[in-house]
Formats: sequence, C-alpha cells, structure tokens
Amino acid sequence: MFRFETAGESHGECLVATLTGIPAGVPISLDEVNHQLWRRQQGFGRGGRMKIETDKAEIVAGVRHSRTIGSPIAILIRNADWKNWTEALPVEEIEGAEDKKKPVKRPRPGHADLAGVIKYNFSDARYILERASARETTARVAVGAIAKALLKEFGIEVLSHVIGVGSVRLERPVQWEEIKQLSEKKEVLLNCVDPDVEQEMKKVVDEAYRTGDTVGGIFEVVAHNVPVGLGSHITWDSRLDGRLAQAIVSIQAVKGVEVGFAEEGATSFGSKVQDTIHYDRQQRAFHRGSNHAGGLEGGITNGQDVMVRGFLKPISTLRRPLESVDLETREPALAAYERSDVCVVPAAGVVGEAMVAIVLAQALLEKFGGDSLEETRRNFKGYLEQVKNY
Ligand SMILES: Cc1cc2nc3c(=O)[nH]c(=O)nc-3n(C[C@H](O)[C@H](O)[C@H](O)COP(=O)(O)O)c2cc1C
Repeated sequence: MFRFETAGESHGECLVATLTGIPAGVPISLDEVNHQLWRRQQGFGRGGRMKIETDKAEIVAGVRHSRTIGSPIAILIRNADWKNWTEALPVEEIEGAEDKKKPVKRPRPGHADLAGVIKYNFSDARYILERASARETTARVAVGAIAKALLKEFGIEVLSHVIGVGSVRLERPVQWEEIKQLSEKKEVLLNCVDPDVEQEMKKVVDEAYRTGDTVGGIFEVVAHNVPVGLGSHITWDSRLDGRLAQAIVSIQAVKGVEVGFAEEGATSFGSKVQDTIHYDRQQRAFHRGSNHAGGLEGGITNGQDVMVRGFLKPISTLRRPLESVDLETREPALAAYERSDVCVVPAAGVVGEAMVAIVLAQALLEKFGGDSLEETRRNFKGYLEQVKNY
C-alpha cells in the first residue's frame, strides 16, 4: 500500500515527506521533482514568500542510482526563510524566548487560527498557522512527483490548468494537447490555455492587488491515458471519485470539487449528460460519445481522461484586514496580517495534480501490486491483454 506523510512548519527548518510502498526500480529524476516544485511557486498573484524561497528537494532515503529501491523514500526541502525565524521558533527553549516570539493574537477569519488555538489550548495562533499554512503543499508536490514518475511508467500523465479566476471563466472545452503545451511554458501567468481569457483573469488579480483584496478561482486536473478499472464500486471507500474528492478538498483553501461536469450535469436533463456507449468492430474497442462523467462511472475509471476540478475560496489573509478579536483583551481588533498571496489558483492546480497523481498511483498499486516495477508491469500487461480480449 502506497502511503505518505508530511511534516514541517511554514517557517521551520524544512519540510519533510516520507513515502512507503513505491515498488523498487522506478526511475526518479531529482530535476523533475524540482521542476514540479518550481511549477508550484509560479503564477501571477503570489506574495513575497515565493521570492525568498527557491524550493529544492533533497532525497535522503529510498532512491539510489536514480531508481527507487523499495524502501521508504524520505524527502527534505529546506526553508530559506528559516534563518529569519531561528529565535522565534527554536526547537529547544532559549533565553528570553518570550520576547523573541512572533505571536499572532488577532486570529484571521478563514484560517485555522481561532479554532486551532481553542482546540490545542494555545494563547497565540503562531503554532497553528505554521502548520495550517499551504507551505505544506510543497511537500505534497514532491510526493506527487514520485507518484507521477510511477504513473509515467504506465503511460499515465497528470496535468492541470486554470478555468476560473474570480468571476472570469474559460467557457470552452479544452483538449489534452492544449494543456500539455501550456505545461511546457517557461513563464506562467495564470495557467489558462486561452491567452485572451488569461488577460481578463489578470485584470481581476490586478484589481485585488490595487484594493488590498484577494481572489479565488477554479482549476481543472486532467489525468490522461488512465486504464479502465482503477477504483471500485463495491464499497463506499473504494470508489475512486470519492477518494479523489477527498484529496482535492484536503488542499488548503479548496472548498469544493467537481468530478467531470458535475455542476452542468445537475442542471441538465439526463439525456444530455450521460456519455453514450459505442463499439468499433474494426478496433474491437468500446468508445464514448462524450466525457461528461470525467472518466469515472460507479467509482471506477472507464478509460476516458479523469477530470476533477477544485474550487478555491479567495485567500484569507487580507492587506485590508477583516474584523476579529484580540485573544488577550477580547476586544474587537483587526485581524493580523502576515505576508501573503493574492491569487494562488495556478499553484493550487499543481498541488491538485500531485494529489490526483497520488490517488491514482495508490489505486494502480492496489490493482496491480508488485514489489518491483517489473512485477507491477507484468501484472499490468496481463490485465491490458484481458481488456483487449474482452
Ligand atoms: C498554494 C497555496 C498558497 C496559499 N497561500 C496563502 C497565503 O499566502 N495566505 C493565506 O492567507 N492563505 C493562503 N492559502 C490558503 C490557506 O492556506 C488556507 O485558506 C488556510 O490554510 C485555511 O484553510 P481552509 O481555507 O482550507 O479552511 C494558500 C493556499 C494554497 C493552495
């Protein structure tokens, strides 16, 4: 079973991820892992922190001579900002610690600050926001890069693009090749396939910068060349649509998820929504009239592209802070401000890719098993043969 954990505070020494259950023999390129980290740092609307950090992964266990060896993989990503926080967040108590802390006493609406301090019984929200921060997603993207490396061996690719920023929406269908081309760009604005719509999106972010506000939006993750039969209809927790939904909503600031064209489907008649089934006798293969279902029916992949969308609320930390309460005096006070992003939809899309890749890699390994890549591949090939002869 492939599973992972992350650890690390936003301004701590580093972020750490451990992965267990990746078969031996999967080719891993550190450059590729770092490229994924770079992609998470891009996009118009990012704040000052991303100028400080140039994320680089160090793989310290489980990969030797550029291949996984079957042992747990451990990845470390250092925080460049740590040098400014050594006295505020020391591991061991230091002299005069109280004066060196950077307390957050005015909880920010929309963050874990208030619920966290009450739950963990802290007098200030620093330790809560250090972990609740989306800096944690850096580690998830590194894990996702390993999952992607595994999926690549089976011909599966996972990418994302942005279809909404604020009220601006890309209204047309998008082809896989367009998303692929977009992912090869060296400069990322808002990661939208349509340059005109992207300019409209930029105007919304400009407006948010000007007014001290923030914006959310929608990203779409597409997994290409996924075989039929990952996930299952047999129990609630083996349904792959549910597992993908959890993975997407677990991303900070994501408040909703759509599998395929869910919203459109809910407002249409059934005759317009279901993907008709056809059979090509020459190719001896089934195909579909459309892909409204997002590649999933009954919690099982159906061989079409898997498509899930994440809906992000606007970033909670505002330069023009919202009303809050001082934790000490209990008097009304404006919420704390900590250097912050204004729009993160493209970055959240990259995190979404990582989460989808992780869930697909888990489902793939559940189905095909194997301690080595060769064994997994053998099982995979045998299954594809069965599908071909169905
Ligand atoms: C890539 C990414 C970057 C983010 N950057 C910030 C940020 O700079 N400031 C902020 O207030 N929230 C930021 N967020 C959102 C918060 O982390 C999130 O809203 C917060 O943890 C509360 O969790 P919730 O919105 O899921 O309830 C970011 C989210 C993502 C996905």
